[in-house]
Amino acid sequence: MPETAASSFALRPARPADMRAVRGLVEPYAQRRILLAKEMVGYYEAVQEFVVAESGDGAGNAEGAADDSGGTVIGCGALHVMWDDLAEVRTLAVDAAWRGRRVGHALLDALVERAASLGLSRVFCLTFEVAFFEAHGFREIDGTPVTGEVYAELLRSHDDGVAEFLDLARVKPNTLGNTRMLLEL
Ligand SMILES: CC(C)(COP(=O)(O)OP(=O)(O)OC[C@H]1O[C@@H](n2cnc3c(N)ncnc32)[C@H](O)[C@@H]1OP(=O)(O)O)[C@@H](O)C(=O)NCCC(=O)NCCS
Repeated sequence: MPETAASSFALRPARPADMRAVRGLVEPYAQRRILLAKEMVGYYEAVQEFVVAESGDGAGNAEGAADDSGGTVIGCGALHVMWDDLAEVRTLAVDAAWRGRRVGHALLDALVERAASLGLSRVFCLTFEVAFFEAHGFREIDGTPVTGEVYAELLRSHDDGVAEFLDLARVKPNTLGNTRMLLEL
């Protein structure tokens, strides 16, 4: 569990009851077009994709043990599976008051571990935080790293994040200035 004397926090899989706090974390970044905004129903539908960081002790761990200590959710991140070998890290957000205290690194480690445990070999992300993701082995890429056949299948998705991965015209305003990055596991 990542912990320091000045700022202890713990990671665990998200629960439905966390999702309003998760939306509260994402909203300021979504307003600045750093993250993609979602409807509330979208957060509940995606709850099993999320890991959260909770302040204080006794918050459980990333494998699922948790108690009712009532800590505050101070960070979140999600792993969205796209294909049999590929997922995206998305909605990685840390409360402004907690930034720079390694919460983000811990969340990203947990999401990459989750990808590995699912047997995936590649993790995509779209981000302004290039150095942060490079520290985890992500490398900048051009284009969409899938075959034409898989591209055609992914076009059937209604998910906006998948549309961003495909670099579709309708989501171009969301992706301006972002860097496309890929981690090979
Ligand atoms: C990217 C983000 C998740 C990182 O979270 P974080 O908890 O601040 O990250 P960490 O503390 O683990 O690491 C941040 C790095 O910046 C440094 N840093 C120092 N002060 C900092 C500050 N005030 N704010 C942010 N980073 C700071 C840290 O030391 C660390 O350096 P390192 O990578 O060389 O180790 C967070 O900045 C955020 O929520 N950004 C907006 C959403 C976003 O862009 N998400 C990514 C795309 S999905």
